[in-house]
Amino acid sequence: MDETTSVQSLRGFLDMVRTRFPEEYLQIRDRVNPRLVSTAMVLELDRAGRSPVVMFDKLGDSGMACVTNIAANRKLLGACLGVGACELPTVFRERSQRPIPCELVQRGEWDDVVIEGDEVDLTKLPIPHQFTVDAAPYITAGQVTARDPVTGIDTTGFHRLMLAGRNRLGISLHSRRRMYEYHRRAEQRGHSLPAAITIGVHPLHYMGSMTYAYGADVRKYEIIGALFGQPYRLARCGVGDLEAPAGAEMVIEGEILAGVHEPEGPFGEFTGYASYRSTQNVFVAHRIRMRRDAFFHSITAGMSKDHILISSVTREGEILNALRRNLPNVTAVHVPHSTCGAFLAVVAMKKTAAGEPQMAVMATLGTELYTKYVIVVDDDVDIFDLNDVFWAIATRVQAEKDIFFIPGAKGAVIDPSSDPQSFTVTKMGIDATRPSGREFAERLVVPDEARDRARAILSAAGITL
Ligand SMILES: Cc1cc2nc3c(=O)[nH]c(=O)nc-3n(C[C@H](O)[C@H](O)[C@H](O)COP(=O)(O)O)c2cc1C
Repeated sequence: MDETTSVQSLRGFLDMVRTRFPEEYLQIRDRVNPRLVSTAMVLELDRAGRSPVVMFDKLGDSGMACVTNIAANRKLLGACLGVGACELPTVFRERSQRPIPCELVQRGEWDDVVIEGDEVDLTKLPIPHQFTVDAAPYITAGQVTARDPVTGIDTTGFHRLMLAGRNRLGISLHSRRRMYEYHRRAEQRGHSLPAAITIGVHPLHYMGSMTYAYGADVRKYEIIGALFGQPYRLARCGVGDLEAPAGAEMVIEGEILAGVHEPEGPFGEFTGYASYRSTQNVFVAHRIRMRRDAFFHSITAGMSKDHILISSVTREGEILNALRRNLPNVTAVHVPHSTCGAFLAVVAMKKTAAGEPQMAVMATLGTELYTKYVIVVDDDVDIFDLNDVFWAIATRVQAEKDIFFIPGAKGAVIDPSSDPQSFTVTKMGIDATRPSGREFAERLVVPDEARDRARAILSAAGITL
């Protein structure tokens, strides 16, 4: 593999972690049961505040290794962009606005082994069965690509894929973005949608696939290139003229059937609930191409950081992007993990006039469909510390004027509290900024000098903070 393709591959990312952050790489050499145990391990790590990449050398009996938890760590995601964790959302936002055309190479690294027709057997892959409620093992790190039957522009994005047979996967397109629309357009023309599933991509591909703010003629692959700062390398696979990242581990070629719906789910979703809501589409696999020494990639599902963090970071970037157009005084956005990485956003601003927090709430809700609650605070509040945010709500809010509701708004299908028929929700804004135009209570602060001295004394007494 040449150097550029390597840098853009999941292998390149794993090399970077092993070399620069060895403490963030956990290799499990013993055989691990793919039924519940691999997921339980990552959730235990999350609970302990640890977020290493986890490589299972032997997951079940497949003989293929499986990596998980590649996207659970802000420090590692920042390193992918060459920045620290704090700058991650802003740099993501800036880079993703400058798409770079892709580079088409002759051959994908996944073209070593080709399995076709009756030989295709997805049950041989080390696909974890993650929660007891899950209807079956799920491919959770499959980037599904297809072209718009009308414009020819392609897309790439994660969609959960339920193992339904040797060559059959249930697929849910519930986020109703490009793939849902492309499939609908193909169906209207009376044919299935040629599609390919790429497994084993770099975390920047994962991030770029989650972007929303782009024109209909922009390829997400071009945004992924923008994140790398160089053309993303793609190669043609065997379905139509679809292209897949040249450095990926494997590509599953097939089609999403027209007019066919089969039961899919339940699945342990990022909401922390079993999700029964699904578009119940069906993907049929015709061919698998993979590297000779391919390994599998699985995203730990449920409320793991692996499942949620990239959604948080990309939404922080998208919301910042939207807010800064009219409110350059917005200083930061936090989309916390504990609120499922989307249902709540906290916005910090240097308020200059009454009404700006309301503007920020409306712009945020207009940007991100999944967001139900927006809290706006002053920039003295550390929005990455939810204790500080709750303190601001407790001390700066008068409910009857500072909390407002927008009933009947379009919400996430996957939110279990949304209306079961219309999927609408009541959205809420909280203005937790100090009131404008009058003196307000003075916040207690400990001067840096006193804090430094206190830390030194505590450290000498054996307490390191
Ligand atoms: C780990 C993960 C799993 C996801 N699973 C699904 C899914 O099963 N169905 C879905 O519609 N969207 C899912 N999403 C959200 C989509 O990937 C996201 O909305 C993407 O932008 C859609 O791509 P598209 O524009 O090609 O449709 C998932 C996102 C992540 C991060």
